[in-house]
Amino acid sequence: MNEKNQHQKNELEIYECLTIFRKPLIERIIDSLDIEPDSTGLDIGCGIGMITNMLANRTGLNGKIIGLDISEEFINYAQSNSKQGNINYLKGDVNYLNFKDNSFDWIWSMDTIWAGLKEFGCPAEKPDLILNKLYQLLKPGGRVFFSLLAFTKITSRLSNT
Ligand SMILES: C[S@@+](CC[C@H](N)C(=O)[O-])C[C@H]1O[C@@H](n2cnc3c(N)ncnc32)[C@H](O)[C@@H]1O
Repeated sequence: MNEKNQHQKNELEIYECLTIFRKPLIERIIDSLDIEPDSTGLDIGCGIGMITNMLANRTGLNGKIIGLDISEEFINYAQSNSKQGNINYLKGDVNYLNFKDNSFDWIWSMDTIWAGLKEFGCPAEKPDLILNKLYQLLKPGGRVFFSLLAFTKITSRLSNT
């Protein structure tokens, strides 16, 4: 295996571990949202798709979810590991969302959209413009769910125990 492939494999394994570690917490967050069965959703920055799968469990087979991520490796991984028929994975950029207005009942994005500089790895170049765009993409009464996990808080608590 060459260096690039090894790096990609390591990155996928890190995301897998991180998602498994956070799964109980994320399930509780998703439970609290009362996502409607049969609804249509978008997961921005879906990564390897493990959370997209949890969301798809809530919408049921008649729901429809798009998992969007800029990383081709993540999208390929998500596609090949998806057991759900109601998810479409797409490669795309949160800064250039290309969907019709009024398309989604809800939009979920975890650890992907925050205010910060691109050179420090912040994916969202202009979070305020992205927010405006998200509201256009929502159907009337639709909801946006953002979450950012504060790892510094978690790790400092762990180190104090
Ligand atoms: C910290 S990860 C979060 C992944 C997943 N939401 C989770 O919570 O496990 C950020 C994700 O955003 C994706 N990403 C980075 N820049 C992006 C962009 N401009 N548009 C769409 N996705 C992007 C990355 O490939 C990565 O999968």
